Amino acid sequence: MTRILSGIKPTGKLTLGNYIGALRRFKDFQESGEVFIFIADLHALTLPIDPNDLRENSRDLAAFYLASGLDPKKCTIFLQSSVSAHAELNAILQNYLFMGELSRMTQFKDKSAKMNGNEIGLGLFAYPVLMASDILLYDANIVPVGEDQTQHVEITRDLVKRFNHRYGDNMLIMPRAQVNKVGARIMSLTEPTKKMSKSDPKGDIFLKDDEKTIRKKIMSAVTDMVGKVQYDPENQPGISNLLNIYAALSDITPEEAAEKFKDSGYGDFKRAVADKVIEELTPFKQRYQEIIDSKSYIAVLEEGAAKANAIASKTLKRVQKAVGLLGFDD
Ligand code: TYM
Repeated sequence: MTRILSGIKPTGKLTLGNYIGALRRFKDFQESGEVFIFIADLHALTLPIDPNDLRENSRDLAAFYLASGLDPKKCTIFLQSSVSAHAELNAILQNYLFMGELSRMTQFKDKSAKMNGNEIGLGLFAYPVLMASDILLYDANIVPVGEDQTQHVEITRDLVKRFNHRYGDNMLIMPRAQVNKVGARIMSLTEPTKKMSKSDPKGDIFLKDDEKTIRKKIMSAVTDMVGKVQYDPENQPGISNLLNIYAALSDITPEEAAEKFKDSGYGDFKRAVADKVIEELTPFKQRYQEIIDSKSYIAVLEEGAAKANAIASKTLKRVQKAVGLLGFDD
């Protein structure tokens, strides 16, 4: 059976980009495969974060997963830190990715460029090793992510080739990224040539924003002087981004969305996009609030940790044995 794995880092308030590029899609895999969805809390430590914020973000994320339609009877939802095999596999796999290739990762270059060189943690540099461990521990075949994470899945694939070449075919299972054509990269509403990002939250729509705020942000989104609703990301990045948002939430293509609004003015078009986002997020937020109030996410995470541990510890043993670590049953 196909294994599907993905995770989100609880580093800040979740954005519409996270929702469209990743979260909204996870539930679609539940019927066709075995799904593992986790909270990448160890990854959240790679940049400074207040402990209370990390706790709150992690709780929120657990509730968001459930509110998005993930059913704990059909999939495994867990905290990365509650499965110690992630850190143990990380300790082994760090020897199979190299400094040169890690230093070329776009995310590392972007994040470290904004920091004082003396304060860049080893964890930020080695981020892809832990991410590879997340994926490989569950023998995942498919990793649904937004476009910005594909490079990390690619380096995981390089690691698998390198490792299997040395220790035997299928010792690690080759994963592949699954990126949706529509909504793979939602852009900032105020700077539509930049990604909507929780680490640089300018022009972001947050999943917890109220209706009024969402409407205001979309109505004041940056557009252009062309005056026609057309899908042309290069020359009309703002309008094209709004078309992408509308299209992704309507399960149509941006070209189809453009056709629908070709005779509309920007004001009417923006109102329709705001209505669409609000229509989607209002029931989602209600479900989220019920889950937070009932604390039902706690039992889900406990059960998820047990299920995840059972699978992860088997893979870890297989890898430990392959590289020559002596076990008591050898
Ligand atoms: P993170 O937390 O930055 O983002 C979570 C998911 O949201 C997607 N995404 C976007 N999609 C479309 N438009 C955007 N503007 C946008 N911004 C973010 C991301 O591509 C991602 O799918 N390293 C990962 C977490 C992680 C992980 C893993 C993922 C850790 N281990 C193993 C998959 C498998 C991250 O930081 O995602």
